[in-house]
Amino acid sequence: MLSYQHIYHAGNFADVQKHAVLMKLLRVLAQKPQSFAYLDTHAGRGTYDLSTDEAQKTGEFRHGILPFWKNRDAQAPLADYLETVASFNADGALKNYPGSAAIARAIMRPADRLLLVEKHPGEYAELQKNFAAAKNAETVQADGFQYLVDKVPFAERRGLVLVDPSYEIKSEYAELPKQLVRALKKWPQGQFMVWYPLLAAGGHENMLLALRKTDITNMLVSEIALTAPPQDTFGMYGSGVMIVNPPFGFEETLRALTQYIADRLAAKSTASVFWLDNRKISPETGRLSRI
Ligand SMILES: C[S@@+](CC[C@H](N)C(=O)[O-])C[C@H]1O[C@@H](n2cnc3c(N)ncnc32)[C@H](O)[C@@H]1O
Repeated sequence: MLSYQHIYHAGNFADVQKHAVLMKLLRVLAQKPQSFAYLDTHAGRGTYDLSTDEAQKTGEFRHGILPFWKNRDAQAPLADYLETVASFNADGALKNYPGSAAIARAIMRPADRLLLVEKHPGEYAELQKNFAAAKNAETVQADGFQYLVDKVPFAERRGLVLVDPSYEIKSEYAELPKQLVRALKKWPQGQFMVWYPLLAAGGHENMLLALRKTDITNMLVSEIALTAPPQDTFGMYGSGVMIVNPPFGFEETLRALTQYIADRLAAKSTASVFWLDNRKISPETGRLSRI
């Protein structure tokens, strides 16, 4: 039984990082005239109303997007992301927060294709409603990990897969590397973006270690770690994004963006950007170095 609902976390600092990176990757794809596809394996409901009791109860967006929203700077690395969020809030107040699927739709062109997968019945019903009018989007109620493997490579031969599980079931940390290996065997040039939480329990470290042991190369990581997490983050002390096959030169873009966010979060935090392939596995501990 799935109980995770993203409305409690929408617009938090992890969403800022995830969605800003997602936008930058999609903008690169949209620069070329050829159409592309986007698969969101754990799409959620699409858009989130921050005025609801659920979002207000945790208030996570107050430590996330809100400080950036209040100090919008047209030159900053987050300008594009904040402008896109603004396009969902016509009267100027921050109320509607676009999730990954809505952000992708805002960037993608009519000939580009969205495939949005969500398993939770309630979330799926909302997703279906939110995308009913989108002619270039298909919504599916299914297991996202299965779609990750079945739907690649895309007919367009260009595009991005976002893998953004809730990690509600602890086995997802082990399943993700397995499914990613299978997907990359079918599509070695494919671009994949994975989000994960940094938790004291260390599930993410095991996942990165497992990925490091595969023969997947070209894995670029961005992590933001809170040095003094607020009480209400439920043990999540940071947020990570891993991109397989990022566009040429993306490391610099990612470094600037990650640092910018970390420097301005309400809670004190550090940024790190590294290639996972370069991380050594310590012979003594069997763990990854510097993680
Ligand atoms: C972190 S949320 C997604 C947020 C969304 N990608 C965004 O950025 O706006 C994870 C979602 O995965 C859904 N989910 C959980 N297990 C799933 C599975 N096996 N397949 C597809 N979706 C699943 C949850 O119901 C939840 O809506």
